[in-house]
Amino acid sequence: MNSKNKSPIPWAQPDFWGLEEQFLVEALHSTWISGGAFVGRFERDVAAFSGLPFAISASNGTTAIHLAYLGLGLRPGDEVIVPGFCYLAAANITLQMGAKPVFAEVDPDTFCVTAGAIEAVLTRRTRLVVVVHTYGNVCEMGEIMSLARSKGVPVLEDAAESFASTYMGRQSGAISGLGTYSFQATKTITTGEGGMVVTDDDALAKKLALYRSHGVSGRRYWHELPGHNFRLTNLQAALGCAQLERLDSIVRERKRIHRTYTAALKGIAGIRLQVFRSEVDPVLWTLALELDPAAYPQGRDRVIEQLAVEGIETRNGFYAASQLSIYPDCVSLPNCERLANNVISLPTFPSLSDQQIDYVCSRLAALRA
Ligand SMILES: Cc1ncc(COP(=O)(O)O)c(C=O)c1O
Repeated sequence: MNSKNKSPIPWAQPDFWGLEEQFLVEALHSTWISGGAFVGRFERDVAAFSGLPFAISASNGTTAIHLAYLGLGLRPGDEVIVPGFCYLAAANITLQMGAKPVFAEVDPDTFCVTAGAIEAVLTRRTRLVVVVHTYGNVCEMGEIMSLARSKGVPVLEDAAESFASTYMGRQSGAISGLGTYSFQATKTITTGEGGMVVTDDDALAKKLALYRSHGVSGRRYWHELPGHNFRLTNLQAALGCAQLERLDSIVRERKRIHRTYTAALKGIAGIRLQVFRSEVDPVLWTLALELDPAAYPQGRDRVIEQLAVEGIETRNGFYAASQLSIYPDCVSLPNCERLANNVISLPTFPSLSDQQIDYVCSRLAALRA
């Protein structure tokens, strides 16, 4: 097999097998294309799914984090602990708010932040800990919540990449009592752009709804606080409702993909798969692995180019915060930097076939020295 007789394999691709079109047309015909009935329905559905009582939709996963920060009353100068290797949305919003991101190391096997790494950077000024469930893994929430409770610091779970992954049977994003999801096009369920905050705190939920909509609730044009417009549209929510209705089949396919990749890659020298602890039942956002530079002396970025020639789209891992000049205070984080230099993520989306996975794995194996 070679790339000439195959169509290219994208890194991600949303699949719409269910009622997406029907719900979208329904929303369109209703003429309610900003707010509308699907928004409330999607919020209720996500709350029920998460197991927490309140879900507040947002225009994307980043504004969901921003809303959570506003609701918590984050102030300039507050310290927010965030992982040094992850999609750095939480760190960026921390800077946006004039607060200080403090970066914690990640575990080299799980690619996730640990309680020990958080404890190492906790100070009197720590106002919030953000954990990021990277690539669909879930951080060691038992240990992290014990630490956070003993220090009286709230924990926000950024579960943008781990929708439907569970930890000891609980939905990621809903373990600490405050979490966020993203529904961007590559995510496990998608609304194009979209996000959600879930919480168990009634007062916080009310505040988030206010900040989302210019501080206005019942009384038109009456601003109770200086908020934003972070609203999700009815059209987006219609897609979300349809995606949630068939979540079981999406999860089944993502688990199949995880199993097939694992079986194909497990024994290959030079490839180190992301590790999932026994408490975690993962639903992968993307299959991520670390390449051993001894087996791949051409380097990860060259491997990405070589796979592209074979018709396979892949992505590099996140840059470590310590490698980015926008975080000049970040100290060196060796695990984060090693992952940043060597992680590659492979095509992962529900309609990816086992044959396509075998092709990806065989090409990746063939590129070893
Ligand atoms: C961990 C994490 N947090 C936040 C976000 C931001 O979500 P969005 O793209 O919906 O703003 C992403 C997105 O890709 C993410 O991976």
